[in-house]
Amino acid sequence: LPRVAVRRSARAGDLQSLLLSDPAVWREPYDLHERVRAAGPLVRGRFSWVSASHAVAREVLGSADFGMGGFDDVSSPRVRRVLDWAGRGAPVHPIEPPSMLAVDGPDHTRYRKLVSRVFTPRSVEGLRGQVQATADGLLDDLARAPEPVVDVVRPFAGRLPVTVICDLLGVPVEGRSEVREFEAGLAMSLEAVAPWRQFRTVEGALRGFDDWVGRHLEHLRRAPGEDLLSRLVTATEEGQRLTERELRATAGLLVAAGFETTVNLLGSAVHLLLANPDQLQVLRAEPDLWPQAVEEVLRLESPVQIVGRQALRDTAVAGQEVRAGSRVVLLLGAANRDPAVFEDPARFDVRRENVREHLAFSAGRHFCLGVALARLEGEVGLRSLFERFPGMRAEPGARRTSTRVLRGWEHLPVRLR
Ligand code: HEM
Repeated sequence: LPRVAVRRSARAGDLQSLLLSDPAVWREPYDLHERVRAAGPLVRGRFSWVSASHAVAREVLGSADFGMGGFDDVSSPRVRRVLDWAGRGAPVHPIEPPSMLAVDGPDHTRYRKLVSRVFTPRSVEGLRGQVQATADGLLDDLARAPEPVVDVVRPFAGRLPVTVICDLLGVPVEGRSEVREFEAGLAMSLEAVAPWRQFRTVEGALRGFDDWVGRHLEHLRRAPGEDLLSRLVTATEEGQRLTERELRATAGLLVAAGFETTVNLLGSAVHLLLANPDQLQVLRAEPDLWPQAVEEVLRLESPVQIVGRQALRDTAVAGQEVRAGSRVVLLLGAANRDPAVFEDPARFDVRRENVREHLAFSAGRHFCLGVALARLEGEVGLRSLFERFPGMRAEPGARRTSTRVLRGWEHLPVRLR
């Protein structure tokens, strides 16, 4: 290889190592993203290809040459046998096969079709009243807080999504602490480099949730309700369309995908709006811009920073040869700040016209299924919060989550009045 190419790939490798291992980079990844961008649209990292480019992310996510790297034929008897064998005694993981997020092909279509009816913009709009009532209830609790300074994450941003998703799935109030514990463990499991001692917490949380889902599904079989899980159970009973393991993976994925991501959207929005009072002023004058403001937060502080794909065959992307089996890491947070698409990309601008070109919900076959619900929760939750507490101010002591894949706030103290 020419010398310059070796040096360039070594540099990209170092960048990827930093991205994988340095919690300071996870808290503030954007400088590193720019260094990746400067190295080229698709660079070879130490462990995989890496891209900060919007065009490359779009291309890879939409391409039939790339898949999730799981299985694309879960129903074949051979794959079923492998999954059953590998999964014997192990709890179901919501982002591993047979979860829809980990598979491609006809099984992915089958899983997605079963749940997608509930998440169409029309069905989700029907939940507006319920989401508003949940937000109002949480804000009433917040207003009763005796102290003037409260953490807006735990009692509000952290509670709205879990309550909405649990209502949708028919999870009774007693089961919700299991859901929250599971979520904390799951967020850790997304970190490929989580310290080994966290594995027990992850395993414990997954097992606790899996046991709980098993019991809950049993209950729904005896007494189905009108909720989504009951419908999935009934459909399964009638048409044998989802196995028990598939059912558990779907339930886990819906809880997992719709929870921490939305908590992070709400937290980042509160932080950005309090730090940019001029933008809050724009929203006060033109409340119809709230949905657009939500998109701008998703662009600028993407709750899911990274997605990955695997090449299914030898292919070419951005002039590079990508061999079958290679992984490509797409830095969504960087793609959403790509100056080729977004003018002055680091600026928070609730009027940004082309904001909907962001890739915070990914693209292609695995495009976020819960997008309408996430948008609704963002719009209703944030607008209600800022209308209820118009004098809200940021207080010192805010702390970011220290995770690589999910970006948000763990602690966000605010003075309500
Ligand atoms: C998939 C982001 C909220 C359900 C995804 C993906 C992203 C994403 C990036 C695709 C991952 C990939 O391509 O590898 C977000 C963000 C959210 C959010 C940023 C909030 C701000 C929700 C909600 C739900 C949900 C509320 C519903 C309960 C799903 C499901 C998938 C998914 C089921 C898998 C789709 C598939 O594999 O076909 N989400 N999500 N998400 N999301 Fe969301």
